[in-house]
Amino acid sequence: MAAVEFIKDLCTPALIIDLDQMKRNAEGMLERFHTLGVQLRPHMKTHKTLECADIMTGGSRRCIVVSTLAEAAFYADNGYDDILYAYPLPFDKVERCAELSERLSLFQVMVDNHLALQELKKRPLKQGQVWKVWMKLDCDNGRAGVPHCDPAALQLALEIWDTSGVELMGIYAHCGNTYACQGEQQIKAVAQDTTKIVLQFMEKLEAAGIKGVKSSIGSTPSCSQPVPDMALLSEVHPGNYIFYDVQQSLIGSCSLEDVAVRVLTRVIGHYPHRNQLLVDCGWTALSHDGGGRLPTGYAIIEGHPELKLLSMTQEHGRVEPISGKLDFKQFPLGSLLTLMPYHACATAMMHPVYFVHSKGKIIDTWKPTRGW
Ligand SMILES: Cc1ncc(COP(=O)(O)O)c(C=O)c1O
Repeated sequence: MAAVEFIKDLCTPALIIDLDQMKRNAEGMLERFHTLGVQLRPHMKTHKTLECADIMTGGSRRCIVVSTLAEAAFYADNGYDDILYAYPLPFDKVERCAELSERLSLFQVMVDNHLALQELKKRPLKQGQVWKVWMKLDCDNGRAGVPHCDPAALQLALEIWDTSGVELMGIYAHCGNTYACQGEQQIKAVAQDTTKIVLQFMEKLEAAGIKGVKSSIGSTPSCSQPVPDMALLSEVHPGNYIFYDVQQSLIGSCSLEDVAVRVLTRVIGHYPHRNQLLVDCGWTALSHDGGGRLPTGYAIIEGHPELKLLSMTQEHGRVEPISGKLDFKQFPLGSLLTLMPYHACATAMMHPVYFVHSKGKIIDTWKPTRGW
């Protein structure tokens, strides 16, 4: 139990999570894909906590995606299984992946090149176990993955399929290109394109004799605004939706009311000669993500659309009015401001502890895992 009873009494800066809203976000995603008949494999990268993972998995403690091996080990140590490490296999971490594969009933790695497969072959698993491998396909996102139109994609899938000691589990595409969308229509267009490309690739696999392999796409925008054809996929893997954020509301994944996370900050200085306030939230509490591109700067200051978080240094934030003279009486030294972050994943990463509340009353504190 937290020592402080109400969020208004917390030392700042502090990351606060609205448990009721977070549960609504989790339930919404679970229901959406239950209705579509598609397995939800939630990504843990946004929060990296056990408590949140329990809510996202509906208590099953199975079927999750992680972005670091630190997350994988943390969840494995706490009773989770069926973990997919959805990151291009780093060669320095093969031994740690092998240990997790040997310890869990289903630990899965991801490859997007022939050399990574060779690394797995060099480290056979003990007691006849096999490496469980997903192949990453780049469906025009332009990050990791074999480009979908490159013949090397089918070749790599065939090579994984034919390699002894290795089992091809699925094809994974992350449609991060939905982050360039504005509005439902554009999101749905990218979701449709990605789904179509993956399903066509699955047909190619079938034609080549590769059967029983799963397909997975996802991002918070595409899974918040899914297209009917996504029902033909085996899995989806969104993560940010658990908190949502200002960025997601601008893309069209959610409304601002759905955002479950805030940074609480206090006014620490008045500078009338600059028409500015200083707050105790620097980039160590919010991150610089978003680059200050909002009309309100680096965040939305809740209840104060007239204010802008203009800039941050490590522990200080400069706040000024968007126009006109600041009424300093409204913001006495020590008073609280509530920041809605641009990118919740980046903001949460800055905090060693999250304060979880229901209607302003603190009901728990959660500690995320960190590292790689
Ligand atoms: C490989 C991978 N899968 C899934 C996700 C989850 O997507 P989102 O953060 O849009 O929910 C991410 C997020 O960056 C990712 O990198």
